[in-house]
Amino acid sequence: MRRINVDKLSSGVMLARTIYSSDGNILLNAGIKLKESYINKFKELGVTEIYIEDEISHDILVSDVIADETRFEARIAIKNAMDNLKYGNNFDVKPIRNVVGKIVDELLCVEDAIINLQDLKTSDNYTFYHSANVCVLSTITGVSLGFNKEKLKQLALGAILHDIGKVKIPNEVLNKPSKLTPEEYEIIKQHSRHGYEILKKSMELSTYASYIALTHHERYNGTGYPLGLKGDEIHEFSRIVAIADVYDAMTSDRVYKKRSNINDTVEYLVGMGHHQFDYEIVRNFIEHISIYPSGSCVSLNTGQIAIVVDVNKKYPNRPIIRIIKDEYGNDLKDMYEIDLTKYNTIIINDVIDDI
Ligand SMILES: [Fe+2]
Repeated sequence: MRRINVDKLSSGVMLARTIYSSDGNILLNAGIKLKESYINKFKELGVTEIYIEDEISHDILVSDVIADETRFEARIAIKNAMDNLKYGNNFDVKPIRNVVGKIVDELLCVEDAIINLQDLKTSDNYTFYHSANVCVLSTITGVSLGFNKEKLKQLALGAILHDIGKVKIPNEVLNKPSKLTPEEYEIIKQHSRHGYEILKKSMELSTYASYIALTHHERYNGTGYPLGLKGDEIHEFSRIVAIADVYDAMTSDRVYKKRSNINDTVEYLVGMGHHQFDYEIVRNFIEHISIYPSGSCVSLNTGQIAIVVDVNKKYPNRPIIRIIKDEYGNDLKDMYEIDLTKYNTIIINDVIDDI
């Protein structure tokens, strides 16, 4: 399978991964042939990219680090909790605790988990997808830092709930398509305190969860909010969640901005590693990110166009690629694969929308 921008789609192409609506229902099943009406629906829903299967990509596998069902369950659990809170009810921690346990168990079974699959978020389901992603990314980092299972569960539970305070932020501010006014930004910033207030009331949660909600926007150099904590004054759980949160937010399309590519985001995190973030944690985090995920289309310094077939875990920017077009833009009859760790002069210029 390969990833393609929805604007480049034409009817008749086969969908390679199931698309879900924001309420968790299946919109379109993997394997279906796309019609013009489906493509228009994607655009309406704000789905910007999907995975398709065609003759040049049919043998490329793109697998997630956790089971599809688990990721799905995580999004639904957080959605249900937020829906309950929105209508003034309490939320049940049990389903969230259950799925967090599954995420921890699954990640403990993977050796050197690498994030290779990019989410197919829509603008209206952002918070649920984001919460599940931040949980998975934070837990992978915790595994990499050698945390035991109990510690991982505490981290994962706080990570999935980190933005729960957003239920108290008016939708028109949260999803405003243009730049926020200083007053609106102050309202958004309140979500960390709201999250703390919500979670500290729950007898079923340890103080870590409310602490993470309160302090995930604190920054290592003291420039964060709401308390302006610095360095080790910020618990390591929140230092981890802060990095996962920024990574996932930067690599996601939002109503007010287009996402950054993974390479730029990783460079940003490394650059900020000595300022806003804990550098040691950034180093651990980026070891688990595939800069050019399998199924991405890329342009090369040779002028050729290729698809990423597989990642090299030790060299994230030197994947195995399949050359699809020559330097003049002609389709190759005989596509061939090269391992970029063996061809030092060939460099990936950019990830492109389509071939
Ligand atoms: Fe947040």
